[in-house]
Amino acid sequence: MVQQLHYPDLQVCVLAAGKGKRMHSSKPKVLHPVLGRAMIDYLLHTVETLRPKSIAVVTGHASEMVQEHVGQPKNLEWVIQDKQLGTGHAVNQCEDVIRDVRDVLIVCGDTPLLRTETLSKLIDEHRSRDAVVTVLTAEPEDPHGYGRIIRDENGRVSAIVEEKDADERQRSLSEVSSGIYCVRHEALFDLLHKVGNSNAQGEYYLPDIVPLALQDGKTVETVAMQDASEMFGVNNRVQLAEVESLMQQRVIHDWQMNGVTIEKPESVRIEAGVSIGIDTVIQAGCYLIGSTRIGDECRIGPNAVLVDARLDDRVNVFAFSHIHGANVGSEAKVGPFARLRPGAELDEEVHIGNFVEIKNSVISRGSKINHLSYVGDTEMGSGCNIGAGTITCNYDGANKHKTTIGDRVFVGSDTKLIAPVDVGSDSTIGAGSIITKSVKEGGLTLSARPVQRHVADWQRPKKKI
Ligand code: UD1
Ligand code: MG
Repeated sequence: MVQQLHYPDLQVCVLAAGKGKRMHSSKPKVLHPVLGRAMIDYLLHTVETLRPKSIAVVTGHASEMVQEHVGQPKNLEWVIQDKQLGTGHAVNQCEDVIRDVRDVLIVCGDTPLLRTETLSKLIDEHRSRDAVVTVLTAEPEDPHGYGRIIRDENGRVSAIVEEKDADERQRSLSEVSSGIYCVRHEALFDLLHKVGNSNAQGEYYLPDIVPLALQDGKTVETVAMQDASEMFGVNNRVQLAEVESLMQQRVIHDWQMNGVTIEKPESVRIEAGVSIGIDTVIQAGCYLIGSTRIGDECRIGPNAVLVDARLDDRVNVFAFSHIHGANVGSEAKVGPFARLRPGAELDEEVHIGNFVEIKNSVISRGSKINHLSYVGDTEMGSGCNIGAGTITCNYDGANKHKTTIGDRVFVGSDTKLIAPVDVGSDSTIGAGSIITKSVKEGGLTLSARPVQRHVADWQRPKKKI
């Protein structure tokens, strides 16, 4: 657990104005999801955990989409960068919103793997060394694309050179800038005002504050990241998939450490908003999506898909079942090959079997619909047994109609319940019935059956030779 952090004299700047050209997308880069949650949400959560004085988010490209997604948290201020003239220019836009803080922490919106602990270490080191600028550095396996850390003969940082501006010797350096900085507020904007744009990209580079601070005789420090993957920035969809797979490993590890068994972990998808109870087993190939919540001692899969589903304790979901926006009571059984659609509410101990679809229906305790059925817009009592091939005919082509079924009803196989229709408790409906009127409580209800004939002298046609 992260200890309670509090940095009341810290301002955070989140840089998120870039278009993310390499994503080839109509939506801004920071809104792309990683395990079902937008990249910017991870980052905002990480910096909010620091409990800083306030957070400024710099947006530009499609800023209204980003603002609409994030909403308006109390300590968050939006800063618009109309033209994306570089990271230095982006931070410069925050000058007016930063007041009465000791330090400014600058992070990028496209690094969802960043951990709060890493940032707090950066701030603490920056303060204990009394630095003016502190850069968070890393040594990734592949430094390509990152700004390289240039050090002098004494090993002190002297500059950061972007990939596009670097010569061959500089490109061979493996230590890079994460793009994350902690800077004394009193010095930051004086330095930024001096940053020029004569470089390969014609941009105002934030990293240029490093040599400028040194020229002014100010202390510049670096703090090394332990786990270089934390700074992985997403610039294209290949990197998006890489970051997602790293995030997935983290999420799975956390659930495993919290009492969840995950078979073939490399084959499952568990999104960030999912929660799972102890002693639950997730079998191979399962997709747990959105806000899905699973109770204790459940068994799911293999190859089940759960989207925004709620499962109580000791639920069994068998292979290839699909549950979307449905609630499942404890000790219920679902599948294999079942489909629960939005509004399906299964009470305790309900059994839903193979090739059964349930939509917008309440199925009360212990009722069983075990084979090949469609139940929609229905309210069903407890202890019912619905035979194979039963269909609630709920749609007349224009409107949906309701079916009400009492308790302990037995519906014979291949019955059509033409809604709207009520079926009384303790009734039995004969197999093959087409029910168009209310069924009384108790007794047997049958619709007329076709006459069965026997033709004794009939012969099978012979095949032509
Ligand atoms: C940047 C750093 C590089 C570092 C790398 C780490 C610069 C010049 N380079 O490179 O040293 O190694 O991050 O990932 O700082 N942004 C704006 N406005 C702009 C330009 C960018 O808000 O005008 C935002 C982007 O949305 C993004 C962040 O700043 O979130 C970084 O920009 P990006 O273009 O990804 O920079 P890199 O080339 O990755
Ligand atoms: Mg980047």
